[in-house]
Amino acid sequence: MQDHPLKDEPKEKVDENSGVSRRDFLKISTISAAAVPILGTKVVQAAGEPVKVYGPGKVPVELIVNGQKHALQLEPRVTLLDALRDQLEITGAKRVCDRAECGACTVMIENKAVYACTVLAIEAQGKAITTVESMMQGETLHSIQQAFVDNDASQCGFCTPGFVVAFKAVLDKYPDATPEQIRHGLSGNLCRCGTYHGIHLAIAQTTQKGA
Ligand code: FES
Ligand code: FES
Repeated sequence: MQDHPLKDEPKEKVDENSGVSRRDFLKISTISAAAVPILGTKVVQAAGEPVKVYGPGKVPVELIVNGQKHALQLEPRVTLLDALRDQLEITGAKRVCDRAECGACTVMIENKAVYACTVLAIEAQGKAITTVESMMQGETLHSIQQAFVDNDASQCGFCTPGFVVAFKAVLDKYPDATPEQIRHGLSGNLCRCGTYHGIHLAIAQTTQKGA
């Protein structure tokens, strides 16, 4: 099975500013059951070292979405997708499989396409998050969006924002992307309605005119 960049995204790694690393988790698991219940952010001693622990209660989380900062209170278990959709009402990224299979939830973090359903919101702090909502300028669609419209490249539309964002990520990285680079960049996105013919035409239109 082909590797896909979206599936390369770290699902367990948490940086030191945002959460609990796997190593910390293993250390914490050795803490006595008599330890004080953890409700927010705490520092506990684990194997003789201080370890910062988040949750399970709500903690402050600041997300930068489409250039705008949002201060939230979230349980650390909340995914970026749920934070976007349920807390910020930024609903372009869709929840379809919710398990890193379909790509409907694709957003960009620091210009890299990721599945928002497999990234914790707390992990995404301090990073530039870009959603499909950022692409339209006023009343004017981005050329990728326009190409999808022109070529009837969606039916139910649930997969469409994910394809559009994933394609944008490819073209941002490779302005003269080769067919192989485009195929690879979109290989983590599925369309259940089978609009692939239209999607191919939309890709051709975009790459001929330039994004
Ligand atoms: S909803 Fe995230 S990959 Fe399907
Ligand atoms: S248009 Fe329906 S899943 Fe793609």
